[in-house]
Parts: sequence; structure tokens; C-alpha cells
Amino acid sequence: MIYMSVTIGTPLQASAFKVLLLGSGELGKEVVISLQRLGVEVHAADRYDHAPAMQVAHYSYTLNMADAEELKQLIEQVKPNLIIPEIEAIATQVLVDIEEQKIATVIPSAKAVNLTMNREGIRRLAAEELGLPTSAYRFADSIESFRAACDDIGYPNFVKPVMSSSGKGQSRVKSFDEVDAAWEYAQTGGRVNQGKVIVESQIDFDFEITLLTVRAKNAETGEIETQYCDPIGHRQDAGDYVESWQPQAMTAAALGESKRIAHKVTAALGGCGIFGVELFVKGDKVWFSEVSPRPHDTGLVTLASQFQSEFELHARAILGLPVNTTRHSVAASAVIYAGVDDHNLSFSGLNLALSNPDTDLRLFGKPEGFKRRRMGVATARAETTDQARELALHTATQVSVQQN
Ligand SMILES: Nc1ncnc2c1ncn2[C@@H]1O[C@H](COP(=O)(O)OP(=O)(O)OP(=O)(O)O)[C@@H](O)[C@H]1O
Ligand SMILES: [Mg+2]
Repeated sequence: MIYMSVTIGTPLQASAFKVLLLGSGELGKEVVISLQRLGVEVHAADRYDHAPAMQVAHYSYTLNMADAEELKQLIEQVKPNLIIPEIEAIATQVLVDIEEQKIATVIPSAKAVNLTMNREGIRRLAAEELGLPTSAYRFADSIESFRAACDDIGYPNFVKPVMSSSGKGQSRVKSFDEVDAAWEYAQTGGRVNQGKVIVESQIDFDFEITLLTVRAKNAETGEIETQYCDPIGHRQDAGDYVESWQPQAMTAAALGESKRIAHKVTAALGGCGIFGVELFVKGDKVWFSEVSPRPHDTGLVTLASQFQSEFELHARAILGLPVNTTRHSVAASAVIYAGVDDHNLSFSGLNLALSNPDTDLRLFGKPEGFKRRRMGVATARAETTDQARELALHTATQVSVQQN
């Protein structure tokens, strides 16, 4: 028997197939565009007005998604078929209940969203339940237990609030002298004032990758299959990505091990969609670092390198449709920062940035910029990853940001 996938209705009509996006950043914006192309009705929510994905959605809502009551009310009002959490700061218990009561499908699964919003959940799953290789780690929730954890793990180590992302509250502790300052800093950088941190031993890697891993249904059987994009190499500055490229060259053994780890962790999280599996690589050896159950910022490069970007792959996979992870080009991406703290910014130099036919840009349309806030990205294709990186970085620097 041939499997029958989803039926898509007409947006803004009674038959509409509705998706509710929780978190409306630049990655969500591209997911919305991909869903719109397939005739899906899109509702986008965030904590502030005019967030990037709101600007391309049919409907938008401004609310505190970490507030269980507000979130429940929104879901009751919209009555979505699918809920896509695009950020981690969400009242996840609401999503667990929604999934249990079969009110909507949570992408990729309420379990995945719940476990990955907290570094402790995903680390214990990966290392203790699945037996995957990770850095050595300890958790601490007081200054005393933190000092002991640091001494246990040794130096240098990495300290991260368990509820944080994009490097917030994170530091690299080089010696015992720096321990108390790292604790203070972690307390200010977490998402909720929970206080708990993870202390990780430093992995001395050759390079780090994101292995975009897609769980999507087979068109004929409806069975979920796992497919991989080519590995994406990236460079992080203060815990935040500044450039990425695809493919990252690596040994066949390391690639095989990367896929084994990605398969195991994504299968445990379940559901359909794309996952950004972050891995550290040294020679043939691979360590699991963390995983996003959604498109990954370093995967913006796939806009230039693949027939289906990570956003199109995600849109198709969550609708139960088949995907194609094939890469057509070598490419790189480089981040464009605001460079200033201000609203209502303007961008110029776009003609220069785009004068090379192998370059492209995304400007996210964020209403407010901060010095280190990502406002756009440049992509470039070339013969080699080194050339693509150079061209993407050059393209990004040709865009200048002005205050009005
Ligand atoms: N144990 C470690 N050993 C070596 N480097 C590390 C370790 N932990 C983190 N790093 C470095 O710091 C970066 C950010 O760490 P991590 O991905 O855990 O933080 P994050 O806040 O979740 O960042 P993002 O949200 O951007 O993915 C890593 O990509 C890596 O470059
Ligand atoms: Mg990370």
C-alpha cells in the first residue's frame, strides 16, 4: 500500500493547513518562506513585534512564550496542525501536554524540545543513556559545588549555564583564579535565573562540524528514514558562529562515526525534521557536543550549496514529504553584524557585495540592532572552501550598516 501523506488546504480558508512557529528569528523566516511555497498557512509568534519570520507569515502574535498560560491560549486560538518551536525559551510542559492530548504535532517531538532546551537533559541522554563520546562534565548549582566541579574536571574547561544558547554566560576557565568570576558571569547569562551550570573538559579538536541530519518519511512506505547533508565546518567566536562552509573535509572513518552519533541521538529524540548535530573532530575521533532539533545557524550556508536548503528540508520533512540532501556547490557563509546598538538601521554597499555573480545576501529585517547582533548573512560559491570563505567574508564586509 502506498503511504498517503498530508493534505494541504488553502491558506486563509477553512481548509488551511496551519503551522504555528514559536520564535520568529532569521532561521524561522526562511522556514516560513519554504512553507509558504508549499501553500501552508503560517502563524508566527515572538516576544517582540516585527520579528523576521513575522514579516513573511500570514498572522503574527507578540507574547511571552515562556508563560504557560499565554502559550496555551495562543495554541487554542490558532488551532495549528503543527507547532514548530524555533527557540529554546518556551514553556515546554505545555507542548508535552498538547502532544499527549493529540491537539497538534510538536516538531520534531515534545521530548526533543524538552530535552534540548536544557544542556543537562541532552548531555545525560547522549552520554549516559546512549553511551556517545562527549567531553567529561559535571553539573553545579552553587559556588561551592562549582569550585569542586572545576577542580574535578581540570583546566582549561568550559562553563555554560544549562539554560542558555549562542554563548550567553559561557566562559573558558583557564585556572582556579578565574573560577569565581566564571560563576558570576554564568549567573547573568542564563535564560532563566536557575543558576545551574555545566562544566566541560576542553576537547582539543582539529575542527568542529555541524552534521545536518534529516528524519523524513519515505515517499512510498511512510517509514521515517535518516539522511545527512555534507558536513559543515564552522568558526565560533565567543560561543557564536561567525562563518561556516560546506563541505568540511574529513576522514571516511570520522564521517562514518559522525553519522553513527547523529543517527543515534536523532533517533532517540524522534519525530520528523532537520537536526543540527554539533560534533568535535580530531583525526578519526569524534565527540558529540550538542544538537538543535531545528535548522542550525551554521546551516545558512546551505542556501548557496544545496538543491534544498536546510529550511526547505525542514519544511518538507515536517509535512511528511520526501527530501533531497544533495549538495550542488562548494559554498561558505559569513555573518553581518549590526556593529552598533540602535533601531531603524540601514544597509548599503549591496551593489558591491553582489557584484560577484557567485555571492548572495540575506538581510533579516530585525527592527533593532546590537553591536554583536546578527543582522544578515553573506553566502558565496567557489571552487574550494578556502576560496568560498574568503569571498563570503569579503562580501559580508562590503555591506555597511548606517544609523538613521
Ligand atoms: N568542551 C569543549 N571543548 C572545546 N570547545 C568547546 C567546548 N564546549 C564549547 N566549545 C566551543 O564553544 C562553542 C560554543 O559552545 P556550545 O555550542 O556548547 O554553546 P552554545 O551557547 O550552545 O552555542 P550555539 O547556541 O551558538 O550553538 C563550540 O562551538 C566550541 O567552539
Ligand atoms: Mg553550539
